[in-house]
Order: sequence, then C-alpha cells, then structure tokens
Amino acid sequence: MWDKLFGSKAPTGENAAQSPLYNDIDRSRLPRHTAIIMDGNGRWAEGKGLIRTAGHTAGVDTLKQVLKVAIDLELPALTVYAFSTENWKRPHAEVDFLMNLFSDYLAKEIDEMDEDNVKLRFLGRIDELSPALRKQAREAEAQTADNTGVHFNVAMNYGGHDELIRAVRAVSGRVLSGDLKPEDIDEACLEGELDTAGLPPVDYVIRTSGDQRLSNFLLWQTAYAEFYFTDVNWPDFTPACFVKALREFGNRDRRFGGLTKK
Ligand code: IPE
Ligand code: IPE
Ligand code: MG
Repeated sequence: MWDKLFGSKAPTGENAAQSPLYNDIDRSRLPRHTAIIMDGNGRWAEGKGLIRTAGHTAGVDTLKQVLKVAIDLELPALTVYAFSTENWKRPHAEVDFLMNLFSDYLAKEIDEMDEDNVKLRFLGRIDELSPALRKQAREAEAQTADNTGVHFNVAMNYGGHDELIRAVRAVSGRVLSGDLKPEDIDEACLEGELDTAGLPPVDYVIRTSGDQRLSNFLLWQTAYAEFYFTDVNWPDFTPACFVKALREFGNRDRRFGGLTKK
C-alpha cells in the first residue's frame, strides 16, 4: 500500500524530511547504526528475464534512494555491503561489471553526497582494488572528510574475518613494539583497529531477498544487533520498504543481557 502511495523514489525538495512517508516513524527510536546486506540483484534480474548484471544496475538506484531516506531521517550511520571478499569467486565478467559500476556510481554521486553533508568511508581491503578505483575511493573519502551528516560506509572487498585478522595484526604490532602489553588488550583496543573505528556498534542489520545469514558481514560489530529479513529483492526495496523496516526497529525490546526497562 505504501509503495503505491509513495512510489519508488525518496521524497525530494527542501521539505523532503517532512514528507508524509515519515509520518509514522518515532524518530527517537531509530537505529544509530544501520547495516544493509543488499542482496538479490541477480534473482531480481532473472525473474524479469534479464541478465544478472541488469540487477546490479537497478540496485544502484535503490541505494541512492535508501541513502536519501537516511539523510532525511538523519540516521547517524548507514553501512552497506557492496562486495564481499568471497564475491571474487563470481565469473570474471560479473566482477568486472561490478567494479565499473562502483566507479561510475562514485563519479556520478559524490558531489551530491557532499552537498548532502554525507561523510563517506570505505570498509574492506581497498588496497586490493584496481589503482584507479582505489584512488577514486580515497579521493571521495577526502572530499567528504569534514562533513558532519550521515556516516555512509560502503563495504567493498570486505570480509569480517579479514577485518578481524588485520586488526589482530595491528594490535600484535603494537605489542611487539612495546607500545602495548598483552594484558592491556581490551575491546576498545581491538575496535580501534577495525575498519569501523569510531562508529557506533551496529544496531540493525537488514538483509533483502530472503536469505537469513550474515555472509561474513561486520561479525564483531553485530554482536548485539537486531535483524530484519525481507523477501523483497534489493532493486525492489523502495524508500517505503526501508521506512517500514526502520519502524519495526522501534518495536524491538533490546535487553543486552539485562532485563526489560520498565
Ligand atoms: C547482491 O546481489 C549484490 C552483490 C553480491 C554484489 P546478488 O548478485 O548476490 O544477487 P543474488 O543473490 O544472486 O540474487
Ligand atoms: C552478500 O551477498 C554480499 C553482498 C551483498 C555484497 P552474497 O550474495 O555474496 O551472499 P551469499 O553468497 O548468498 O552468502
Ligand atoms: Mg546474493
């Protein structure tokens, strides 16, 4: 019903944040850090008799709309899973297509993100991407480094295991150099070496397209996250779908091992 009312685009214009789309949202109960596993591009395309890559192209538009909602609702942090360390197993042509798509997306969207006060960060092994994409990613981060709005993180060549191994290596290096004693290693110390250093823990994981797993996404950061799974494929995940998921978060009873606050 909402999709029919609001269409597939986020509201635009100066008063976008006051759009009726957001009427039923309790803004005091939004996640501080939302993480999205954008899954189902291939299935979306196959369902329409298209080649898989058409699904990736359509998915980019969904991402743009979802980021607009995050901006309107002033979500503190949004992290999206764009390419995992396991996705290199896909056919060479699909991987190539995705890398070009990321590059085009960045080139096309970075100025608007900057105008929207979005602070962009890449998570994952950016050093293993092509020199051109690596440069583009670092420049985009630098361009938005002083922005104070939504912290928008794109996990690209990211794996939770890989991230933890890199963090452990960094901590070990500090121990070896005498800067840190093993008994002083604590949660904050490890967190400080993760790609997400400085960001709040993940409150909410949304995965589209029906599968119910983490696929190596933010393993440390999701320790106490709430999960939301929907059968909707990523290209069909409209702003109204996102708002619905965010409303659902407001109803969750988060106990963190304690008891419900009365
Ligand atoms: C998610 O869609 C995009 C990436 C993993 C890059 P998929 O390509 O995984 O789509 P399905 O899961 O095969 O439908
Ligand atoms: C997870 O989706 C990775 C991204 C969305 C980038 P996959 O499609 O790669 O996950 P699996 O293979 O179904 O676990
Ligand atoms: Mg998939």
